[in-house]
Order: sequence, then structure tokens, then C-alpha cells
Amino acid sequence: MDVELQFGCDGVDWTFVFETLKRVGMAHFSPEQHRQAFEASSAAVFAYSGNRLVGFARALSDGACQAAIYDVAVVPEFQRNGFGARLVQALLARLEPCNVILYAAPGKEDFYRKLGFRKMKTGMALFPNAAARAQQGFTD
Ligand SMILES: CC(C)(COP(=O)(O)OP(=O)(O)OC[C@H]1O[C@@H](n2cnc3c(N)ncnc32)[C@H](O)[C@@H]1OP(=O)(O)O)[C@@H](O)C(=O)NCCC(=O)NCCS
Repeated sequence: MDVELQFGCDGVDWTFVFETLKRVGMAHFSPEQHRQAFEASSAAVFAYSGNRLVGFARALSDGACQAAIYDVAVVPEFQRNGFGARLVQALLARLEPCNVILYAAPGKEDFYRKLGFRKMKTGMALFPNAAARAQQGFTD
């Protein structure tokens, strides 16, 4: 099984992005909001198997010092084939020389640890939906 990576948002099916994020239990908004978020990102990468979109990831960056990765997802039937790692590595290559931060979904920390990430001891977040995020295990 192989995939091709596409950088940039040309031809992306935003309803599929929304459905995938919902399906894998990640924060999801409307397809239009996901389009806005990906298109406003500094880097966006999509994995295709043939014509089928099977994963994606995006990053914000100031281009010099600091960057953050969001919305890393691989559709369940394509997981554990190395595609998630390829998506993150593709972003990291484009984010050099920045520091890169992210917050892992609870239980996904080891995926990022294998890519070189380490837990931050002082990371903090201000979520509008703070109670829900605490219940999901993101914050204390
Ligand atoms: C997390 C996710 C992106 C990983 O993508 P993937 O394509 O399945 O992962 P890969 O096959 O590239 O795995 C790379 C390595 O991480 C490991 N790994 C993958 N998922 C893992 C997990 N949940 N826990 C621990 N290790 C994991 C793999 O075993 C592999 O290890 P190896 O290099 O020793 O073989 C994918 O499972 C997913 O989309 N999950 C649902 C959405 C989600 O939680 N995204 C992360 C949000 S922060």
C-alpha cells in the first residue's frame, strides 16, 4: 500500500476532511471551517491512495522561530502503515528551523514520541470549551 503526498489544498474534499476528523474522534467543525483553517495554514499536506484521500495534516508557522502542528489524521483502514509518520515528517521538513509544538490526542503520545517529540513540562492551553477538553483528558 502506498500513498502520494500533496502539498496545498487544491481539489480537497472538505466534507471528507470533516467526516474523517469526526470519525476518528478529533475536534471537528464545519467543512467550510476546515477549508478556512487548512487554507490559512502555513503548510498543509494530504495523503492520497490513488484518487482517495486517506490522511492529512497541517501546521502554522512564523517561518523563522515557532510552529505548531494540528489536525493529523489517517482514515482508520489506512492506519499503521506509516502514513501518519510520513505526513508529520513532511510537515517537519517544511517547518525547519522552527521549534514545533503540538498537543497529542490522549493515547497518541507515543506516535509523536517516535517522531522525536517530547512532553512539555510547562505547556498550557486556553480552550473555549475548557470543561469538555478537561473531560477528554487534554488538561487538568
Ligand atoms: C495517530 C495517527 C495519525 C497515526 O497514524 P498512522 O498512520 O496510524 O501511524 P504510523 O503507521 O505512521 O505509525 C508510526 C509509528 O507510530 C506508532 N503508532 C501509531 N499509532 C500509535 C498509537 N496510537 N500509539 C502508539 N504508537 C503508535 C506505530 O506503531 C509506528 O511505530 P514504528 O515506527 O515503531 O513502526 C492515526 O492513528 C490517526 O489518525 N488516529 C486518529 C486521529 C488522531 O488521534 N490523530 C492524532 C491527533 S494529535
